[in-house]
Amino acid sequence: MPLFALEALTVDFRTDDGVLRAVDGVSLAVEAGEIVCLVGESGSGKSTVALAAMGLLPQPAGRVTSGAAWLDDDGARTDLVQAGERALARLRGRRLAMIFQDPMTSLNPYLTVGAQLSEVLELHEGLAHAAARARSTELLRQVGIPAPESRLDEHPHRLSGGMRQRVMIAMALACRPKLLFADEPTTALDVTVQAQILELLCRERDAVGCGILLITHDLGVVARVADRVAVMYAGRIVEAGPAREVLRRPRHPYTLALLRAVPRVDAEADAEALVAIPGAPPSPLALPTGCAFHPRCALAEARCRETRPEERRTPTAAGDVRLRCHVETSP
Ligand SMILES: Nc1ncnc2c1ncn2[C@@H]1O[C@H](COP(=O)(O)OP(=O)(O)OP(=O)(O)O)[C@@H](O)[C@H]1O
Ligand SMILES: [Mg+2]
Repeated sequence: MPLFALEALTVDFRTDDGVLRAVDGVSLAVEAGEIVCLVGESGSGKSTVALAAMGLLPQPAGRVTSGAAWLDDDGARTDLVQAGERALARLRGRRLAMIFQDPMTSLNPYLTVGAQLSEVLELHEGLAHAAARARSTELLRQVGIPAPESRLDEHPHRLSGGMRQRVMIAMALACRPKLLFADEPTTALDVTVQAQILELLCRERDAVGCGILLITHDLGVVARVADRVAVMYAGRIVEAGPAREVLRRPRHPYTLALLRAVPRVDAEADAEALVAIPGAPPSPLALPTGCAFHPRCALAEARCRETRPEERRTPTAAGDVRLRCHVETSP
């Protein structure tokens, strides 16, 4: 029983232009002690997956229309989709935490950084005030905030974007959650801090044995930290498997295109030219027929325009690769 398992999760948003399916039948597991990366272009549904599992979809527009999100809480399985708000509130912070794409979503502008961190620690960990303050200082130090003691008394708006992001990461890690959703946790940060934060997440994974679902645009990040990777396109997972296997031998033309669009520091100058993916991702309100990627795919054939590819599994030495593609690249 994995720590966390999405089963055919489907999420719709009601909009003025109609109902939009942001996530369509996504299945994905995160084992304890594992970092799974979720990648894909903007709008592919990555944040929606995490928000749905946290019970934090924007209301009243967003709704899980089918599927489940199982959390193994010390042997007790809870479907986060069916769990009520009270059960979710108990799990959040203590068992489940999320680092949001936009730091201000989870920081209270009216409370000092120290008060917010202490609140979490006092509430969930039962720490006394002084102990909570000491632990808060330590947490800020761990996320690379200089002079952490003096930052405790500041309000979030006084901090730079990068500092806020780090405070939010400290808050998410405060109660050592078993499952962490990290939505682009390092995008706003410079490379040095980015490396520090990734290292911190890996250390946390090793120390607590937590599972991490890491959402990122950055395939360099995936290569560095992911055990497994899932590639999303237009609300569906098109390829998923062991990170090394998927990065070395991408089978889906979309995965290959994403990899070709990444500048490689180790590549010899212009040995491998960067190739932008032609066109743009489709609107979920007007998905192409067949495979949603076909209008942008160099390998598309007639059947790709006509039928949606079912998922196939290919065994590899490192584990199964799941693929939704009629043609498949030849590595
Ligand atoms: N509150 C909302 N109301 C209506 N549609 C929404 C809402 N939030 C997201 N969507 C739509 O759902 C789809 C998936 O959005 P989501 O934010 O999950 O994508 P993402 O992969 O996280 O993108 P990014 O990389 O830009 O963060 C998009 O088409 C988006 O426009
Ligand atoms: Mg997002």
